[in-house]
Parts: sequence; structure tokens; C-alpha cells
Amino acid sequence: EKLTVCVCGGGNGAHVMAGLAASRPQTEARVLTLFRDEAARWTEALKTSDLTVKRSFPDGSTDEVKGKPSLVTKDPAQAIPGADVIIFCVPAFAHQQYFTAIAPHVQPDTAIIGLPGQPGFEFQCFDILKDKAKRCAILNFETLPWACRITEFGKKVEVLGTKISLTGSKITGQSQLKFDPFQTLESLLKGQPKLKQANNYIEICLMAYIVHPPIIYARWKDWDGKPVSEKPLFYQGLDDFGGECLKKVSDENVKIARVVEQKKPELKQSNVLDLLDWYKQDYAETISDFSSIKTAMRTNTAYNGLVHPMKDAGDGKWVPDFHNRYLSEDIPFSLVITKGLAELAAVPTPEIDKVLAWCQEKLGKEYIVGSELKGKDLKESRAPQAYGFKSLDDLVNLL
Ligand code: NAI
Repeated sequence: EKLTVCVCGGGNGAHVMAGLAASRPQTEARVLTLFRDEAARWTEALKTSDLTVKRSFPDGSTDEVKGKPSLVTKDPAQAIPGADVIIFCVPAFAHQQYFTAIAPHVQPDTAIIGLPGQPGFEFQCFDILKDKAKRCAILNFETLPWACRITEFGKKVEVLGTKISLTGSKITGQSQLKFDPFQTLESLLKGQPKLKQANNYIEICLMAYIVHPPIIYARWKDWDGKPVSEKPLFYQGLDDFGGECLKKVSDENVKIARVVEQKKPELKQSNVLDLLDWYKQDYAETISDFSSIKTAMRTNTAYNGLVHPMKDAGDGKWVPDFHNRYLSEDIPFSLVITKGLAELAAVPTPEIDKVLAWCQEKLGKEYIVGSELKGKDLKESRAPQAYGFKSLDDLVNLL
């Protein structure tokens, strides 16, 4: 049966998703991109060429998948009506704009998929789509399935690596889809990665491992403000203090999960792992020393060459860039949500509070005050409190 897919976004991930979907028989792939002149540029590019996805596999082999989206537009009235599946493939800070744009046009029994959705995706979706969201299936995947980059805008994108498995959650609500959204997405992804279903959407939130803010906090909290002559290694430069900080944040995260499921058995959290166990599962091949979080990070060859985000300070020196996505995204769209869930479960989180307080100051924002989420910028985050959630029951009500 014919399937109509609308991919939202115009970056690396959106290119791969649009190319793979367009290559599939019986599938109409549309793209909605709201950013600047991306829709016009992409449309122009497709006049003379297909969209090619070049995929590299671990054994060194490559292949090419070609397709042509039927439409690339910035007009949601063209892109959304008739779409069976809407896939967000765009950084979380842009989601609000997309939800607002699609809201008037979304039809019942549509699958709305965050690939990735990132924490707070469902809260924002229900807030903007209101009752329409209840008639849709809302899926949220833990991350993007690929490491990828555009090589020629609108025409060529390269997949450097594909995850083996990817977990996502689903809120079915009152929707009655005429297809299984996990199976459909898996076939749109050409069978890789294998998709697994999480117990619920809160589990996906607490599974999303938050490592960037603690690493940045640990590295720079005692920095004297003087430019440095080398960009420090991000993961492999982790010291004892950083390792301890990550361990405590991970312990708090696991504790939140355990308390949530204890208080609300409907919100089972069995897939939420301690950070070190998570590394054992996801990086078994590339880490040589699993004795601690510190050694796991330092010996992970997948992290070779990755450095702290830095800005040029002249004279061959560098200063940290605190407005990089590692903080500007991972605070309001990740760690603040974890803290919000902790508050609803009444779990104290002294380490997360410390990291949040330091990071928010670097961003010039205020989410947390002392140990409470009541800062003036809370509304800009996707914490459940920003949408009026007051208890764990409110979380259960979305199921
Ligand atoms: P990207 O960096 O390619 O996204 C850029 C796109 O976002 C732009 O083309 C535009 O469509 C939109 N955009 C940028 N600024 C905007 C603004 N001010 N307003 C509205 N829209 C704007 O993102 P990418 O690489 O596709 O990643 C998507 C998500 O997946 C991100 O959250 C990223 O962190 C995550 N991810 C990406 C990986 C990768 O290899 N590319 C790997 C793992 C996760």
C-alpha cells in the first residue's frame, strides 16, 4: 500500500532520511524545511539530480541509494496533508517551530516520529498539537540512526556509520494507524538499525545519556579564564574528578528511574542503565578498559581526536565555547528535563544541581534556583514543569 512520508528538517539527518524514504517503492517522500532558503535551494538542486545517500559499512564496503523527494517546501499546507508519517530529523531547538507549523494540518492516525525526539519531545508535542496529539501515535527515538554529513546540499549525503540497534518509545493514544509504525520505519531505514521498543516515553528520556554538560563542567569549572594553547581532548582527557562527576550524575539518573517505576508501575524503567553498563552495551568493541567510567572514556577508540568545543582566541590560543550545542541543547533539552522528572519523583539530585547551576550561568540562563526548578527561563526548556505537569500522575496521563 502507498505510504506518504514527510521529513521535517534540512540538515544531515533529514537528507539521509529523505533519500532513503524516496528510494523505497510505493513511498512518496516529502520534505518540510522552514529554515531560511533551504527549501528553495534544495528544490533547485533536485531539478538536475536525484538525492544520493552514500553508505559506508564496517567492513569497508559502500553502496549508494538514490531517490527523489516529490516535494521540498517550507509550506506546511503542502507538505503535511495526506502524510501518514511525519519524521522530525532536526535539532531539538527547532522542534517548537515545526510543531507549530504542522499543527493546523496534522490529520488523525498519523505517526509523528522524533528521530531523535530528545527529552521533552512528547510534552511539547501535546502542548502545541493539543487534542490532535491524542489521535496520533507519537514515537521518540534515542538518537539519530547514523553518523552522517551532507557532501553536496540537496544532492549528496554520506552515512559514515549506522547504529546496530536503536530504541524508541511509542504513545498510541486514541490513534488507529493502518500500519505498524516501528515496522514501517524499519523498512524506511532499509532494515538498519534494528528498532526496539522501549517500555514508555519516560524511559527514553532517562536512557538518553547526558555526558556533555558534566564533562564540560568538570574540565572548566576551575579555569582561570586564560586562553590555552591546545584544544583538550573531550572524552579521552577526562580526569578523576570528571569521572566521579559522571558517576554521580549517572547514579542520580538511575535512582530517578527506580523511584519513578516504584511509585508508578505503569512507567517501567528496566532499560535505564548505569552509564558504565550502557558503555559496555554500546561500545563493547572499542573500549579496552571498563574498570571505571574514566578509563572507559579514556580508552574508547571511537572517541579518538574528539576535543572540547573551542573558540579561536588569537595567537594560536583557544578558549572554551560554552554556547556550543553541548550546552545550548543538552541543558534545556536534556539535563533540565531529567531534573524535572527528579522533582516529580521527589528524588534529590545534588550533583545534577551543581552541574546545572554552573552550566546555566555559562549560557546566561536561569532554570534552577538552589535545588528547585523555578528559574525565570524554565519556560524555554522542555521540563515537564514548563508545561504545567505537577505530579507523576500527569506523566501517566499521556500514556
Ligand atoms: P544538522 O546540524 O544538520 O541540522 C541543521 C539543520 O537544522 C539546518 O539545515 C536547518 O534545517 C535546521 N536549523 C538550523 N538552525 C536553525 C534555526 N535557527 N532555526 C530553524 N532550523 C534550523 O543536524 P543533524 O546532523 O541532522 O542532526 C539532527 C539531530 O541528530 C541533532 O540533534 C544532532 O545532535 C543529532 N545527531 C546527529 C548526528 C550526525 O552525525 N549528524 C549523530 C548523532 C546525533
